[in-house]
Parts: sequence; C-alpha cells; structure tokens
Amino acid sequence: MPQQFGDYQLEIYLNGMQGVLPEYPMAFAELEARAQSALPPSVRSYVAGGAGDEHTQRANVRAFEQWGLVPRMMVGAKDRDLSVELFGHRLPSPLFMAPIGVIGLCAQDGHGDLATARASARTGVPMVASTLSEDPLEQVAPELGDTPGFFQLYTPTDRALAESLVYRAEAAGFQGIVVTLDTWITGWRPRDLGSGNFPQLRGHALANYTSDPVFRAALPKPPEEDPAGAVMRWAGIFGNPLTWDDLPWLRSLTSLPLILKGISHPEDVRRARDGGVDGVYCSNHGGRQANGGLPALDALPGVVEAADGLPVLFDSGVRSGADAVKALALGATAVGIGRPYAYGLALGGTDGIVHVLRSLLAEADLIMAVDGYPTLADLTPQSLLRVAAMPST
Ligand SMILES: Cc1cc2nc3c(=O)[nH]c(=O)nc-3n(C[C@H](O)[C@H](O)[C@H](O)COP(=O)(O)O)c2cc1C
Repeated sequence: MPQQFGDYQLEIYLNGMQGVLPEYPMAFAELEARAQSALPPSVRSYVAGGAGDEHTQRANVRAFEQWGLVPRMMVGAKDRDLSVELFGHRLPSPLFMAPIGVIGLCAQDGHGDLATARASARTGVPMVASTLSEDPLEQVAPELGDTPGFFQLYTPTDRALAESLVYRAEAAGFQGIVVTLDTWITGWRPRDLGSGNFPQLRGHALANYTSDPVFRAALPKPPEEDPAGAVMRWAGIFGNPLTWDDLPWLRSLTSLPLILKGISHPEDVRRARDGGVDGVYCSNHGGRQANGGLPALDALPGVVEAADGLPVLFDSGVRSGADAVKALALGATAVGIGRPYAYGLALGGTDGIVHVLRSLLAEADLIMAVDGYPTLADLTPQSLLRVAAMPST
C-alpha cells in the first residue's frame, strides 16, 4: 500500500487535541523567517541570497503562480500513489533533496550533511550530496540507511581528482552521479560580495577534497598543517568549464546513472541524450548563478519534450506541495527541494528537515486527493491551466 502522506495532518490535529502544537512552522514564510534569524549572518546571506538583484530567484517562485491545477470531481481518489521509479529504484515519493554545498553549516553543530542524510533515511526522500560538504562522503553515505543517495560532482580541472571523487562515491554506495554544469565559475552575488564572504575560501565545506588522496598528493604540506595552502589549491582546481567534448570522458567515469544538472535548453537535452546520460536535471541553481529572469519552471516543458522519456529531475523555486504537483504535471519525473530543507535543518536538525519534507508531501497528497488526481500518471500538462493575470491589489 503506497504511503498516504496526507495522514501527517491527522497526526498534527490529534496532537492538537492533547494540547501539543507543531514544533516547527507550517507555512513557508514563517519557516523562512525563523530559520533566517537562527542562522549566523554569513550563512544566512549565502543560503538566502542569489545572483544580481535576485530577480531570477523570485521569478522561479512566482512562476508557479502562473499555473493552476484543474479540480476533477467524482474520481474517488481515496488512496493516492505518489511512488515513482527512478534509476531502478522504487521511491515512496517523487521528491528529493537538491545538493546544497553549505548544508553542513546550516546545522547548529556544523554536521548538516549527516543530519540531512539521516532525514533521507527517515523519509525515503533521496539526498543528492554535494561535493562541497563538511563531512566526507564516506561518512555521509552510511547515514542514508536504505534510501538511495546520489553524489553531486563539481568537476575539478584536475581530471585525476574528478575520477577519484567519482570512484569514492561509487565505493561508498551512492547510486548515481549528478554533474553540475552551471557553477564552474561563481555568479555575481551582491549579498555575499557585500560581506566579502565566500565560505569555501574560509576553509568551509572542503572535506571531500582534504580527505582525497589525489588532492592531498598535490599539496606541498598536508591540509592539517597548512589549511590556507589547501584552500588555495582548491580555488585553483575547483571549476572546470566543461564542453560537450568532455561528455564521453564523464560518461566513462562510471557505470552508475549519470545525470547532468543545470539544463534548460532542449538542444542541450538532445546533446546530453546523444552522449549517453541517464537523466537530465532542469534547474537554474535557484537563481544563484545568473540573474536575468527566466524561471526554471518555464524551461521545464521544453526540456521534458526533448528528453523524450529520459527522466527529468527539476528544481528551483519549489516552496510547497502545490508547486511540486505543478512541476510533476509539467513532466518532471522527480522534484528537488532546495532552500526549504536547509531552513528546516537550521531550525530543528534532522527533525526539522523531516517536518519540512512531510509537510510538502502531505500538501501534495491532499491536493491530489481533493482535486481528483490519484496517481502521478494522472498529472499531465492538460491538468493545468494558465492563470489569467490578476490585477495587483
Ligand atoms: C546555499 C545553497 C548551496 C547550494 N550548493 C549547491 C551545490 O553544492 N551543488 C549544486 O549542484 N547545487 C547547489 N545549490 C543549488 C541547489 O541544488 C538547487 O538547484 C537550488 O537550491 C534550487 O533553488 P531553490 O532552493 O530556490 O528551490 C545550492 C543552493 C543553495 C541555496
């Protein structure tokens, strides 16, 4: 029997009858506000901020308001099935946690990567673990329990290091490699620039590098003795401006599913397909990389069409269960949650993330119940209507 995620609301109301209120916010706006005040200023600006005047970041969120799900009645959607098949795994839901490089720092104890992996184990929502982490991938993987995890690769210019990271991820048990294409250089981020703060240059989130034999071998002194030298070496090799000519090499690194992240153009999807990838990941990095205004959601239908059956992961701007439902209806195979789980972590560690994920899933499930879409297959582009522009109030 598929999980009925909407039951979370019953649990909350029953607790309320005992006088027990939910520990964490139920509305995203409150979650965001409370989490931001819980985070140290440098982490807050890094997590909350984006590129330029953050127009793209806002547009990502607003794009969901342009679509509405058409309610269908007399469907009897008493039982819903949100489970999905992804890269050979049957997952209880179509959500996953997008890679967040400073997630370690979002936890009070500095071990947010481990806390996130534990939330994944508890919910069955896969984690895409970033290359940039406070704890090495070998320590993150065992915390995932039975939930499959994916490793996100920032491809360094040192090919031997890239290979080492992929082999380590495979050996640790990750079930796929997500290569992020849109961040070989950092976008213009006024909030971080204003405070002169870039966490990695202060030595944060480099555990996968400082624990790597190839990275260490290239250092004149071990990182424990010369942390500044390790940071400089990292800055020198971090970003590789890949071209399509590099895809055969990337493909050759692993027999695990290979997914390219940061794809918005149908032609790029076709090239990725031709290069033998197993999935494409439509995302504009939550508006953190390039300002300009195109919401990732607007690119999704073109990506899905060009993917022609290949799984399409999607993120950027998902703030509610309703948003997830709309992305699924537009053809996403799985929907990535970004900042919301970082905020859950900031407020309540693993429990905070679990609350955020269960809330998103409960809302999605209840929308599918109320609006008469019992399975993910029932959600199609025809289930959505463009919302007419509303007069501003
Ligand atoms: C603080 C922060 C750090 C991120 N670090 C990474 C990363 O290490 N690798 C990556 O591929 N994407 C990274 N992303 C992008 C996310 O994977 C995802 O694309 C984005 O958060 C989606 O936008 P949203 O959070 O506004 O929904 C990061 C996002 C945030 C907010």
